[in-house]
Amino acid sequence: MSKELILTTAKATQGLNGTIRVPGDKSMSHRAVMFSSLANGTSNITGLLEGEDVMATLAAFRAMGVEAQGPDSGNLTITGVGMRGLKAPESDLDMGNSGTAMRLMCGILAAQNFASKLIGDESLSTRPMRRVTVPLSSMGARCATDEDGCPPIHVRGVEKLEPIDYKLPMASAQVKSAVLLAGLYADGETSVTEPAPTRDHTERMLKAYGYDCETEKLNEQASTIRIKGGGELTATDIDIPSDISSSAFFMVAASIIPGSKIVLEHVCINPTRTGVIDVLKAMGADIKLINPRAIGGEPVADIQVTYVGLKGCEIDPNLVPLAIDEFPVICVAAACAEGVTTVSGAEELRAKESDRISVMVEGLRNIGVEVEERRDGMLVTGGGIKGGTVESHHDHRIAMSFAVAGGVAQEGIIIKGAETVATSFPNFVELATNAGLKIS
Ligand code: S3P
Repeated sequence: MSKELILTTAKATQGLNGTIRVPGDKSMSHRAVMFSSLANGTSNITGLLEGEDVMATLAAFRAMGVEAQGPDSGNLTITGVGMRGLKAPESDLDMGNSGTAMRLMCGILAAQNFASKLIGDESLSTRPMRRVTVPLSSMGARCATDEDGCPPIHVRGVEKLEPIDYKLPMASAQVKSAVLLAGLYADGETSVTEPAPTRDHTERMLKAYGYDCETEKLNEQASTIRIKGGGELTATDIDIPSDISSSAFFMVAASIIPGSKIVLEHVCINPTRTGVIDVLKAMGADIKLINPRAIGGEPVADIQVTYVGLKGCEIDPNLVPLAIDEFPVICVAAACAEGVTTVSGAEELRAKESDRISVMVEGLRNIGVEVEERRDGMLVTGGGIKGGTVESHHDHRIAMSFAVAGGVAQEGIIIKGAETVATSFPNFVELATNAGLKIS
């Protein structure tokens, strides 16, 4: 891992202003690299997130014989090798900090006729991987985690995979995607039933690469996604819009720093990702979607956020999977809102880059916020932020959330372990300081 980075913040002296374009969507960037690598033909990707997580995925495919030019300013050209064209890597595939890379790659590698080993950094090495190796093994894959269910994952080659009908035990797009990707190689139809809507970029992007994939809504929450194995992916050009998860830091900053008015440009507003907008609106935020349009099978808009001051609320647990990555910064919004905010039904937050419930509780307390930890969430009493020192526990979103909190903290915040910001949002400090946050 790179050297420890410490961020120091000071209170913003005026509201945030201007038009901000955050980097490309991380989930879409990983998938664009994966599908382009497995496609027949050459794909041109624009708007790619050049964060460390996506670079780990790209490096893995390069190590398996895929040729790619770039990335350069978000442009990447990949010449696909076809579904069966990957070659055995000469060394371990290092997925760095990225759970998405490791879990989705596991689905793909499970179906290759060579052995591979997936490793990760200190944070990724403590994250649960049986959630993918268990369903993949029931498809006939030979993949195993360490004794504790964590990386490394050893994958051995198999002749062919069997299709399964898999009921996800948790609302996870990563597990859904790992099974669907293995399903591309299975002998028949694989289905995955999700208990609640999770991001559907895999399904949408498979269609963009010419691969049929069907979604049947079972009720308000649950759906079944079906895919037939044995098809091919066809190269295409993909334009990746900005990441709503990175935009969320600015949505919250503008909602808590008086006098702010910003526009976030070209943001993916896929309905499986917009929970953060619903949560902030329920807290009274002034957020408007401008110029909605469709780009490459995904809905996109500019998002205008104007400061109005927030009120605490009981967050609808149904919104949790739709805002799963935004909870750290939503907790910062809650700390600045009037009254109490309750987060519940969010135990999955404990399985992210850090245990985001206990790490946020610890950090918020360190900066003078009253907060009660619960098994599946927390209760935050708003009333402002004093300041202090927080530890990000190698979690990029924790670090950026406290950088946003620094915009209103009376005495500034020191954020330790912020180097992982580069995994998802390499130019965060630059964009944030340009908009008016004081971070060094
Ligand atoms: C992701 C899915 C989510 C999210 C992660 C990216 C994806 O994880 O937290 O940052 O790209 O599929 P889970 O599906 O495990 O909740």
